[in-house]
Amino acid sequence: MSATRFSESVSGSIRDGVLVVTIDNAPVNATSAHVRQGLVKALDHASAVGTVIGVVITGAGRTFVGGADIREFGKPPVEPTLPEVMQRLENCGKPVVAAVNGAALGGGCEITLACHGRIAGEAASFAMPEVKLGIVPGAGGTQRLPRLVGTVAAIELIGSGRTIKPDEALKLGLVDGIAADHLAAALGLVHQLAGQPQRRTGLLDVHVAEPAAVDAASKKILSRSRGQSAPAEAVRLVRLASEATFQDGLTDERATFLRLRDSREAAALRHVFFAERQAGKVDKLNSVAPRKIETAGIVGTGLMGAGIAVAALTAGYRVIGVEQTEDAATKGRERIAGILDKSVQSGRLATTVREECLARLAVTANIGELATADLVIEAVFDDLTVKTALFQRLDGIVRPDAILATNTSYLNPDEIAAATAHPERVVGLHFFSPANIMRLVEVVDCKATAPDVLASALAFARKLGKLPVVCGVTEGFIGNRIFSAYRREAEFMVEDGAAPEEIDAALEAYGFPMGIFTVYDMAGLEIAWARRKRQAATRDPKARYVEIADQLCEAGRFGRKTGKGWYDYSSGEKSVDPEVAALIVAARAAKDMSPRSFTPGEIVNRLLRAMADEGTALLTEGIAARSSDIDLVMINGYGFPAHKGGPMFAAETHKDMTP
Ligand code: 3HC
Repeated sequence: MSATRFSESVSGSIRDGVLVVTIDNAPVNATSAHVRQGLVKALDHASAVGTVIGVVITGAGRTFVGGADIREFGKPPVEPTLPEVMQRLENCGKPVVAAVNGAALGGGCEITLACHGRIAGEAASFAMPEVKLGIVPGAGGTQRLPRLVGTVAAIELIGSGRTIKPDEALKLGLVDGIAADHLAAALGLVHQLAGQPQRRTGLLDVHVAEPAAVDAASKKILSRSRGQSAPAEAVRLVRLASEATFQDGLTDERATFLRLRDSREAAALRHVFFAERQAGKVDKLNSVAPRKIETAGIVGTGLMGAGIAVAALTAGYRVIGVEQTEDAATKGRERIAGILDKSVQSGRLATTVREECLARLAVTANIGELATADLVIEAVFDDLTVKTALFQRLDGIVRPDAILATNTSYLNPDEIAAATAHPERVVGLHFFSPANIMRLVEVVDCKATAPDVLASALAFARKLGKLPVVCGVTEGFIGNRIFSAYRREAEFMVEDGAAPEEIDAALEAYGFPMGIFTVYDMAGLEIAWARRKRQAATRDPKARYVEIADQLCEAGRFGRKTGKGWYDYSSGEKSVDPEVAALIVAARAAKDMSPRSFTPGEIVNRLLRAMADEGTALLTEGIAARSSDIDLVMINGYGFPAHKGGPMFAAETHKDMTP
């Protein structure tokens, strides 16, 4: 049986009278121009050859089709367009069935929708992740999906971009069947459909749900979209499917897709997509093999240590937690089990996986048990004396090839490393709390860190499902250093005349989930206060310094947990506090400053500029390798809105960074 090549990435061969078309366009079988051209030629071939009764479409490798080729966005269009291919598929006179071997994403999922039948292999998955790229499906997805799964499910899937597995796809009516041998099952379905009128998705009626259910599903998506336009457009288009003709729906969808594709929001989210794939790539590690890590020791099982333990356990590692006393060890184990329980309750973790995790966990007061660990992460109190003493002790316990990682936020890991016998095996792994949820990990390449130690730390973080960003040693690493500059600038602005609540409102309108003063109150004001006091002796006396935060701390206003901070929480709700306003007025008066007013645009502009300037300094100092890494840190660790691309992207692409 010889294969026919329809283009450089599409080939076909005849099996049981069916043309089996394989898309082979590494790495993810995106629908690049040659894939689209190949598919059309394959359909022409199937129509022309009388002995062919139908077509099966499948993908080579792990993916079915990863969607439109994002690298083509912004380039001149090449015929045929994806909607044209879908039209050809749907109108083909012979049955076309998708044999979905792996991920069918975006345009890939749309291909399956335009086919006359769909069989999912066990490794298949389906998603319409376009909104995550600031766009809507552009090849019929918003009009065909509701015709198969109904309006409510289509709003939820397209509006969220969520991935579903074969079981759910079958339940929803997205696929006709699931089969271990998806190809054989797809061939069977072609034989079943041959000679019958084609099952064209576009001709189906939309199952119209109760208006209340449609409204509720729409509201849920819109409430999470934080100022992005794509989710709202996606919801509108899905609803249109039951109100307009199929053709009118397609026309509107295409126009919306093209408009959004060229928007600032989509450019920002594409930047984030590629930035994530770049992150953690380090040239000097190209031919460096990571060490084998099977057992992770975690010293300190407080909130942070327990979160790291859960992340490591769910990624399949054996974990040894270490505490100072038996009682603390028992509490640590309970804390870890409690987080696992919560994950089960929220549906993120299967009960069986929870049991497997607990079977791989030991929490002990005997630090000597770390002798079997391949990697030890310390998550103890952020104090240099405590951490160096611990690492010196670990020197005498762990194997010579074991890696030691510090989770410090502000201390200098070079100093911690220098106190050990083997500084080359020390690396920083700065997790964000809650560590089992937050994706970001700053991987700190210390002065003496050996390349294979850095490579191992990166591989470990990736296996945890984290987004690792490499950074050099500096106070606060990338994130906290930029955050400090951001906070400093916000405090300057308060002194200059803006009220904290005005600044927070401007940031929230820009897309931050919370303004900086609200964040400050959530985190607690005392840690930064202690740091400022530590730094007081070395501070440049000529540098501008705002005393307001210190005065709040002196008044015992440490934030939400004390009921008062920048705001008042004593009623249970956040409210503006006249006492704080009076304190600000007094602070301005003490410096003889007369307040001026700020527009929301000015506020955001000034804060973004402060972040971008600090980011530029980090690049110049070689602390961050690329500006896109800085964007990822601020998006994934500090709530910077992804659809604005991060502070560096905003600065590079727009001189005026007003919302
Ligand atoms: N277009 C172009 N390149 C893509 C791509 C795409 N759709 N998807 C992935 N790639 C590239 C990545 O940039 C990466 O390149 P690199 O090796 O040079 O860094 C490479 O493929 C491998 O990607 P990952 O590292 O992400 O590989 P994984 O195996 O971890 O994940 C995946 C594979 C699940 C397919 C993931 O890449 C993914 O989610 N891709 C995006 C899917 C998507 O958003 N599709 C919708 C596109 S828009 C669309 O279809 C519009 C339509 O409606 C008209």
